[in-house]
Amino acid sequence: MEDKQLIALAAEARRNAYAPYSHYSVGAALLTASGRVYSGCNVENASYGLAICAERTAAVKAISEGEREFVAIAVVTENGGTPCGACRQVLNEFGPDMRVLIADATGNYQALGLSELLPASFGPAQLPKK
Ligand code: THU
Repeated sequence: MEDKQLIALAAEARRNAYAPYSHYSVGAALLTASGRVYSGCNVENASYGLAICAERTAAVKAISEGEREFVAIAVVTENGGTPCGACRQVLNEFGPDMRVLIADATGNYQALGLSELLPASFGPAQLPKK
């Protein structure tokens, strides 16, 4: 899957964003090891703190379909905003070495490793086996 294809899918998902409070629409497209792509958008709520980010929408969709390994995610916003800390942590659980494509609405993007966005991360390996 080409970077541009994944970004196009994230841009498409962004059109479904429900962001009447922040007016900041976000779309994501997550590529898993099986080769499937799961899309997501941000979903806000009148109770503001219940908003869920686009990246985590895509992540929980993938996991709930049986996926366990993330390869790459594209995130599209108006201005190329980077994924929030909570989303970085959730992505790290299933793809510490994944690529993160951060795009703006015109298609300009930067590609970073999740490990660059979340250095010295806390993950499953830090927990005792039993
Ligand atoms: N948002 C995302 O969807 N992803 C991020 O990584 C950052 C923030 C959403 C949450 C909220 O709906 C809006 O953007 C403004 O914070």
